[in-house]
Amino acid sequence: PHATVLLHPDFRTGAIDRRLFGSFVEHLGRAVYTGIYEPEHATADEHGFRRDVADLTHELGVTMVRYPGGNFVSNYVWEDGVGPVEDRKPFIDLAWRTVEPNLVGTDEFLQWAEREGIEPMMAVNLGTRGVAAAAALVEYCNGVAGSRWADLRIANGREEPYGVTLWCLGNEMDGPWQIGHKDAHEYGKLAAEAGKAMKLVDPSIELVVCGSSSMQMETFGEWEQTVLSYTYDLVDHISMHAYYEELDGDRASFLGSATGMDRFIRRVVASADAVGARKRSDKRITISFDEWNVWYLESRFPGETNLPLQHQPARIIEDVYSGLDAVVVGDLLVTLLNHADRVPVACLAQLVNVIAPIMTEPGGEAWKQPTFHPFAATARLAQGDALDVRVQAPTLTTRRHGDVPTVTAAVTWAGEPDAGELGVFLVNRTAEPVEVELRHPGVALTLGGGVQVTADHEPAVHGPAHAAKVEAEHVTTLDAAPVTATTTGTTTVRLAPESWT
Ligand code: AHR
Repeated sequence: PHATVLLHPDFRTGAIDRRLFGSFVEHLGRAVYTGIYEPEHATADEHGFRRDVADLTHELGVTMVRYPGGNFVSNYVWEDGVGPVEDRKPFIDLAWRTVEPNLVGTDEFLQWAEREGIEPMMAVNLGTRGVAAAAALVEYCNGVAGSRWADLRIANGREEPYGVTLWCLGNEMDGPWQIGHKDAHEYGKLAAEAGKAMKLVDPSIELVVCGSSSMQMETFGEWEQTVLSYTYDLVDHISMHAYYEELDGDRASFLGSATGMDRFIRRVVASADAVGARKRSDKRITISFDEWNVWYLESRFPGETNLPLQHQPARIIEDVYSGLDAVVVGDLLVTLLNHADRVPVACLAQLVNVIAPIMTEPGGEAWKQPTFHPFAATARLAQGDALDVRVQAPTLTTRRHGDVPTVTAAVTWAGEPDAGELGVFLVNRTAEPVEVELRHPGVALTLGGGVQVTADHEPAVHGPAHAAKVEAEHVTTLDAAPVTATTTGTTTVRLAPESWT
């Protein structure tokens, strides 16, 4: 099998916003407690945060982290998580049925992010709370001395405003599972009023309004149009969430997941642009893909209402990933890069322990899941602009996505028009090796290195030992190995079966 990828540095889709390489830390399971935070751990810093996890977060290349939820945010009282820790009271988080000890709150998280040089993305509670609490939180985070909530922050020991730019207007408000779930009109009106108040506190912030929790929601499309009809002039981004998994042994559909993501993005863009067209507006709403990943949600998750009441640290949705999952994650990144013009913000959900590329044991090791590798390599190598490439490849018919290409590609370019660095990201979704001919007319390449991840057929097994095995068998560091020939104008790359390169 054979495919061609045509590229030219003059044909650009758009600049890659570094916020595309975001992740997510929710008060869910062990993301916070024994994830980023574990004061008793041997590597803990003076603030109680694990150094080993922070180091892996840097190696992963994460630029931004969303916090504190997720479903959690829709019943969170942020005021209970600030001030002297000994005065804070635990509460039952209804989203995940876990007693939240409130040891980590807004200040601890924002200071961790600041120390680590990671941009924070905050979410406000529009489930059980509303306009006043949202505006107060913006003032607490970004206000200067002389007003109530900014002064409370200062009294809590933090003089300088945090300057949080990105704010989510609630989370998955279209989902019936969401605490305080609303219909599109109720939510649209509330988001407009909360967003208005938040921007009156700090006009420099960017707002993300909730889109659909997935493309499979019954209200998909209608939801986006209704919500944006209330908020179009106010917000900057609309959110998208999507999780993919292999269902009923349908490997082909799972390998085609990134085509599903591509269509989802196009439909949300179309919905947003339709509202803009009706308004005769020149403004373009962009996308915050603030939750995406492989998650064995339908096949392994019992559902929010079946969770037992637990105390922290609680093990919830600690999915163990395979080489196949890593190939799909790499392919989802290919789709995100190809939409660089409309998707400036994205978060791999989540960062640690909870459907995450980084795992830990309480008091023990931290290790990488297979999905770590395509993310880290993409965050490192995708620099500058995404190019508008043309891929020609045979198609594959899948049950869930219909016809999908057998090979996908994204290419990035950093530098001057006549000399720069090319990042090439290729996926082979078939069980055969594929020769890809990269056509780059008039451009000569000097080959650098790379990484290749291949799928496996074994079920994933728990534990760090498994991670080491996956790394050894399925992740290869490349010098120029898969490139079989290069001349001015053409380079041939050999892709292993079911692989991300
Ligand atoms: O990331 C896990 C959960 O998935 C989030 O809390 C929620 O927003 C989504 O349904």
